[in-house]
Amino acid sequence: MAEYSVTPWEVKGDLDYDKLVRDFGTSYIDDELRTRIKNHTGELHFMLRRNVFFSHRDLGWILDRFEHGENFFLYTGRGPSGNTHLGHLLPWIFTQYLQEKFGAELYFQITDDEKFLHDRKLSRKQVTEFTHENILDIIALGFDPKKTFVFSDTDYIKTLYPISIDIAKHITFSTAKSVFGFKNSSNIGMIFFPALQAATCFLPSILQKKNIPCLIPAAIDQDDYWRGIARDIAPKLGYYKPAQIHSKFLPSLQKGGKMSASSPETAIFTTDELEIAEKKIKNAFTGGRDTLKEHRKYGGNPDIDSAFQYLKMLIEEDDKKLSEIEQEYRSGNLLSGELKEIAAEKVKTFLKEHQRKRMQAEKIFDKFILRD
Ligand code: TYM
Repeated sequence: MAEYSVTPWEVKGDLDYDKLVRDFGTSYIDDELRTRIKNHTGELHFMLRRNVFFSHRDLGWILDRFEHGENFFLYTGRGPSGNTHLGHLLPWIFTQYLQEKFGAELYFQITDDEKFLHDRKLSRKQVTEFTHENILDIIALGFDPKKTFVFSDTDYIKTLYPISIDIAKHITFSTAKSVFGFKNSSNIGMIFFPALQAATCFLPSILQKKNIPCLIPAAIDQDDYWRGIARDIAPKLGYYKPAQIHSKFLPSLQKGGKMSASSPETAIFTTDELEIAEKKIKNAFTGGRDTLKEHRKYGGNPDIDSAFQYLKMLIEEDDKKLSEIEQEYRSGNLLSGELKEIAAEKVKTFLKEHQRKRMQAEKIFDKFILRD
């Protein structure tokens, strides 16, 4: 089988999501869970209908609590290593839907420490600038300012530190090494850092002085923190284990792997000029055939086509339109260039609107920020 790896800092190769579910010990989101969610939300988000959010831990338990009148909070985050790309928006758009439908509070952690420590080339100043830029993208997605609390680790450390040391005391170096692959050459900041990402799982319970269930929507690359640290520690500190809902990855513009900020050639950034975004899509990895004759005869493969996946996973909400495009492409009627044209137009419209909201976000920035 093709080599691949999924860690919080690297996703590469041909992804096998079934193997990930087995290796990480998560569960698939099944029809029963989808029906239960629909009972509360009225409609299922297209990312649930299309299995983009495909795996979970304790989602049934979160719904049980909710049905017994106990609200949960949402927790997600961003490591500000660069500008935001379309892949980051995927779990955030879904998180906004969950916030709206369940009326949930959202704690949004910006791990400026993590990215500074992890990436030799990044200065503190750059990370601080990216923090601001990334928060504009978050606000632009329409989160409720009354229920959304965005904080960066270095800004909010006075509150986070006591929780982190409670956690850190229970994690041996040997556990950290086996979960995250740390080596003797890893800097000691990185070795402590997982305690900070785990801390937010319990932060609202501490702030509000009662146990509150936590649901984490994110792509599955963040799972080490929950599987390896937070869920083990929770009962020892007297908190609920955090629940997760995992998405797949928006693919790279190139063959294999995910869209990644650390490899800019794989990504469309929210700050890209529209013409640049269009060019990137036109050069993206295609599931089309080598020659026109072959394409007409055998059809294209949307499953591996980056442009089609952007439509399916992020941009085209209309199931009917998407399925028409898919059928036409598979049958060979729709050419790869034509599919890319459709995707490029949609992405440009999406980006234009996002960039407009991003500019407005500057005005309401402070309403979202949690500080010590
Ligand atoms: P970061 O900045 O690497 O990623 C931010 C969020 O985007 C998701 N993600 C993707 N989702 C779909 N397709 C992609 N191509 C793609 N690339 C990244 C990530 O899963 C993540 O949800 N350490 C974290 C920050 C963090 C966090 C959290 C994330 C702190 N607490 C709680 C999720 C939940 C980080 O560096 O994320």
